[in-house]
Amino acid sequence: MTEIKRKVEEAAEALRPHLKGGRPVGLVLGTGLGGVVEAIESPVAVAYRDIPHHPVCTAPGHQGRMILGRWAGKSVIALDGRFHLYEGFSPQTISFPIRVLRALGTRILMISNAAGALNPNFDAGDLMVITDHINLTGQNPLVGANEDQWGVRFPDMTEPYNRGLVDLAEKTALKERIKLRRGVYVGVLGPSMETAAETRFLKMCGADAVGMSTIMEVITAVHAGMDVLAVSAITNVNLPDCYRPAPIEEVIRTAAASGRTLGNLFEKVLEKCGEP
Ligand code: HPA
Repeated sequence: MTEIKRKVEEAAEALRPHLKGGRPVGLVLGTGLGGVVEAIESPVAVAYRDIPHHPVCTAPGHQGRMILGRWAGKSVIALDGRFHLYEGFSPQTISFPIRVLRALGTRILMISNAAGALNPNFDAGDLMVITDHINLTGQNPLVGANEDQWGVRFPDMTEPYNRGLVDLAEKTALKERIKLRRGVYVGVLGPSMETAAETRFLKMCGADAVGMSTIMEVITAVHAGMDVLAVSAITNVNLPDCYRPAPIEEVIRTAAASGRTLGNLFEKVLEKCGEP
């Protein structure tokens, strides 16, 4: 067994006794969105530092623990605290928890993040279901030797965000009267925010929202054969011709204010998604 596979197996082994039922749906909670975990029933929190080989968080608004429990009748594992390239974590380190989820049987991954709108029709406080992405980080978690047992060398990216889950999210939003935008997410390295010229460029690229997370996790999940649903909490709107700062405090505050709606959306999608 390769070194990385052994580490993933050891981390999964430590978590397995805490699993609450069948294949856990994975939940990745973005900046300011950690409040979603309060809805999880019979939660067991395991700090990242207590999981063998697991990386530990540094980013503001991120806790650094996995929460295993049940939500909307499903077994879930929430990653409360995530890893960003801008913190200096390698793409492989960012992938680690996703690999651990896969080792625990996860087939559906629901991701949230905070993002800045590039689409001028969007408002701060909106939610956006991600239909596709543009990876402008210059990085990829699959660089290096391929683990053939995990996935193929050249994973298909025609549908990184599962269409069935996107449809389900949109139908659910309609039913629950949640305003849900749809759009393309562009992932950048950060941590400096975009200049006005970069914002203009990203808009022209075809993106509706920009952020500094998600892409590494999604590529890893797709490689591992998972179905991904990702929703951005729009925390600020970046208009290149009327550009103004988006301080991190404002980003966290606006994301947190969307937390309840996002939690409601995830809960209702969870109820209807395929896992037992
Ligand atoms: N740019 C990049 N990342 C972000 C933004 C932004 O405007 N808002 C929230 N995350």
